[in-house]
Amino acid sequence: MFKVVSCRMIVPNIHVLTVEAPAVAREAKPGQFVIIRAEEEGERVPLSIADWDEQMGTVTVVLMNVGRTTDRLASLDEGQEIPTVVGPLGNATDIEKYGTVMCIGGCYGIGSIFPIARALKAAGNKVIALLEARSSYLFYWEDRYKGVVDRVVHITRDGSKGYKGHLDRLPEIMKDIGEPVDRVIVNGCTYCVARSSEVTRPLGISTWVSLNPIMIDGTGMCGVCRVTVGDATRFACVHGPDFDGHQVDWAELLQRRKTYMMEEVVPLRTSKCEEHSQDVRGT
Ligand code: FES
Repeated sequence: MFKVVSCRMIVPNIHVLTVEAPAVAREAKPGQFVIIRAEEEGERVPLSIADWDEQMGTVTVVLMNVGRTTDRLASLDEGQEIPTVVGPLGNATDIEKYGTVMCIGGCYGIGSIFPIARALKAAGNKVIALLEARSSYLFYWEDRYKGVVDRVVHITRDGSKGYKGHLDRLPEIMKDIGEPVDRVIVNGCTYCVARSSEVTRPLGISTWVSLNPIMIDGTGMCGVCRVTVGDATRFACVHGPDFDGHQVDWAELLQRRKTYMMEEVVPLRTSKCEEHSQDVRGT
């Protein structure tokens, strides 16, 4: 069993979960992920490692509460235990000296791209963090970013902080930065990573994305996480999770992501209704 060190909502619907997992913390590298179960017999969810502490033996993930399992994880309290934390899984992000690197993080990706930005900076790159959210109140870890990157730029759907709009404004943002960007790395929802890739394609900037397809085992055995990259079928868990964003078949990935949408959302609603009716009956 893995003990919960802390679990708290950092901004609406986004939770930071830290668990004791010394074996994972010992081996973790930027860009890798873990598979977590909230309960025995429960669903296995892949979550990118957002930080780790080798000495304390802890691993931190940032998750968005979107379904029954993430809802259970989000409601964990300090001291509780969960049955499964498997990892580190997947390949680490390639960390080299590229020059100027833009790290784009949206939603839970603001957390998962943080160790990548930190490692790129330590490798001698100039690192620009572009953080994306619907509104300013959804940003987090800004102090942490300011401590490790050269510049933090914001874009919000409602214009409440930084640029207003979508990642379609990337060319303009890059122009304002005033220097060539040698590499773009993106973490976030499928829409965020797909859109960023489409926008950088005509600019000819090498763009690497962390994919988050549905996974079961996370070790290349089930085939559920398959994606098409170039002409090849790849398993995101063992060949990725990072891939060249200009080679990914986004239409296929977006379609496959929706496969169990109803099964994810309906149990959450149902369990909430059950909890509510129990509360009502209990009062
Ligand atoms: Fe099963 Fe990748 S999750 S092959």
